[in-house]
Amino acid sequence: MESVLITGGSGFIGSNLANHLSKSMKVTIIDDLSMGRIENLQINENVKFIEGNICDYSKLEELLSTYSFDYIFHLAAIASVADSVEHPLETNRVNFEATIHLLELVKNYQPNLKRLVFSSSASVYGNEPTIPKTELSQILPQTPYAVDKFASECYLINAYKLYNIPTAVARFFNVYGVNQNPNSPYSGVISILLDKYQAILQEKSAKFTLFGDGNQSRDFIYIDDVVQGLLLLAQSNSAVGNIFNFGTGNMTTLNELIGILDTIFQKNLPVERVAARKGDIEKSLADNKKLRSLGFTPNYTLNEGLSVYVNSLDGL
Ligand code: UD1
Repeated sequence: MESVLITGGSGFIGSNLANHLSKSMKVTIIDDLSMGRIENLQINENVKFIEGNICDYSKLEELLSTYSFDYIFHLAAIASVADSVEHPLETNRVNFEATIHLLELVKNYQPNLKRLVFSSSASVYGNEPTIPKTELSQILPQTPYAVDKFASECYLINAYKLYNIPTAVARFFNVYGVNQNPNSPYSGVISILLDKYQAILQEKSAKFTLFGDGNQSRDFIYIDDVVQGLLLLAQSNSAVGNIFNFGTGNMTTLNELIGILDTIFQKNLPVERVAARKGDIEKSLADNKKLRSLGFTPNYTLNEGLSVYVNSLDGL
């Protein structure tokens, strides 16, 4: 049976990937449970959970020097762009320093690795106005988060060229779905919105804080489509040493998103408009041809993904 290590494997994207892979592989997860939860995981005999921070280098070294992995998915990260603007040093430690440390350990201890997949971000494109973004679009990182993701990408791609480590990079656009944690002010916007509708349905008072005019747009991609793409990056030989956009090719403004959710819930969400967040991106849209060339087909429209997500939540 093949074996896989997922850093951040109890978090939103990591747990969905782990639950898929643990049906047929040995899955080792390292996660500090800062945003992830054990309850996200479908534990079976193939799953081994290690509670630990990605910056705990002695723990990481013990793990990578003891076990041999076929695949590593490096998903442990501080996921919020806005959080990085408030806490640039801490973000750098987790999102960049830990990445190059992991690379060093892979170089030293994992000669048989088939793939190291890194989770990067569409934020690296910044606010250069040309859309959709191809992988060759201009890179203009405008937050500490985006700088760290881009710098990590460069290290990953160079690790293939310099040391023949079989790396691949996923540039996530806005991922949403089951197991997304809504409990931080820095959580993904769809998880926060659903939390507010849930409160309204339970007749609690709730108000959504909208940063900016609501005309900012995002390419929202459902988690199962992201898992599909990650598996392609792990399995396809032509993924090695390459970067792939993970988006649907469709763009939705926040105002439109709230309109769709108002219709689904048959409620008018109370919205308080405040100033835009510093470093926020105006328009984000993926050209996903490169990922499609590996066999990727997004299976969920935004409405379909939202329906599955909403139906999975308690009390809805
Ligand atoms: C998101 C991801 C990031 C990923 C990037 C890729 C999260 C937390 N962030 O960043 O990991 O790399 O996409 O494109 O999943 N907003 C509000 N009110 C809120 C929360 C957010 O108006 O309460 C607005 C934000 O200002 C922003 C939009 O919603 O304009 C999306 O914000 P957010 O979900 O935090 O995602 P990104 O910053 O796009």
